[in-house]
Amino acid sequence: MIWIWTLLATAVAVSVDELVGTWTTKSRNVLTGPGFYDPLNDRLLEPNLTGISYSFSADGYYEEAWYRALANPTDPSCPSGVMQWQHGSYVMLANGSLTLTPIAVDGRQLLSEPCRQGVSSYTRFNNTEKFKGFSVSMDRYHGIQRLDLAQADGKIMQPMYLAYRPPRMLPTSTLNPIPNGPHKKRDMSRTSFHLRIKEELINPDQWWWLGVLMTSLGGVALFCS
Ligand SMILES: *[C@@H]1O[C@H](CO)[C@@H](O)[C@H](O)[C@H]1NC(C)=O
Ligand SMILES: *[C@@H]1O[C@H](CO)[C@@H](O)[C@H](O)[C@H]1NC(C)=O
Ligand SMILES: *[C@@H]1O[C@H](CO)[C@@H](O)[C@H](O)[C@H]1NC(C)=O
Repeated sequence: MIWIWTLLATAVAVSVDELVGTWTTKSRNVLTGPGFYDPLNDRLLEPNLTGISYSFSADGYYEEAWYRALANPTDPSCPSGVMQWQHGSYVMLANGSLTLTPIAVDGRQLLSEPCRQGVSSYTRFNNTEKFKGFSVSMDRYHGIQRLDLAQADGKIMQPMYLAYRPPRMLPTSTLNPIPNGPHKKRDMSRTSFHLRIKEELINPDQWWWLGVLMTSLGGVALFCS
């Protein structure tokens, strides 16, 4: 663990410029910008596959889009799904750690539980994030730049790949300052969705460690078959 972190930490010593861009997980279906969140109609748009996307601008703004499945222990065949969207500003400290501070009134979450009364709840979402560090490297298998973010607890998130540079983001200013709930109740049923999960049921950590191990063994071609 420690030697891997050292490896990441040395990569972190580089400039924040490397972070700039729109990044997305392997499915490439989830991307920040107007395709995920429609600020005019204040609604989240369901991607075809689950995934995560982060964008970082050169002038200190970020945007993030998450679409995840949540396991349903009582009925594994019917998972819930959650979409989350936030934007705001980020800072990188001298030690390479990142703090992402959202515009609190703009964040949105859509939680859909199709097997629990078929309801979904659409709410504000406000979650400041801290990352211990990041690493940008060339992924030799995919031939594209790859971003690894280390969460505050040291866990490495699943890798994201560069989709756009410069990033594609919604306006970085406050979009929706209205203090009431973002939706009329009537609209909620239409935002209910059924998950079409297909992606990333692998444990990202395992793949990360495996990737590092294989890289060190020169077995890169075996990674991500
Ligand atoms: C999602 O699937 C539909 C139907 O197959 C397709 O038309 C659409 O382009 C897909 N969207 C994305 C973002 O891949
Ligand atoms: C958003 O979260 C931050 C950090 O937890 C908190 O200080 C702030 O009061 C929250 N703002 C709103 C509007 O909920
Ligand atoms: C980086 O520096 C900040 C501020 O000094 C500190 O709170 C944080 O714990 C440090 N992170 C790491 C990974 O050393």
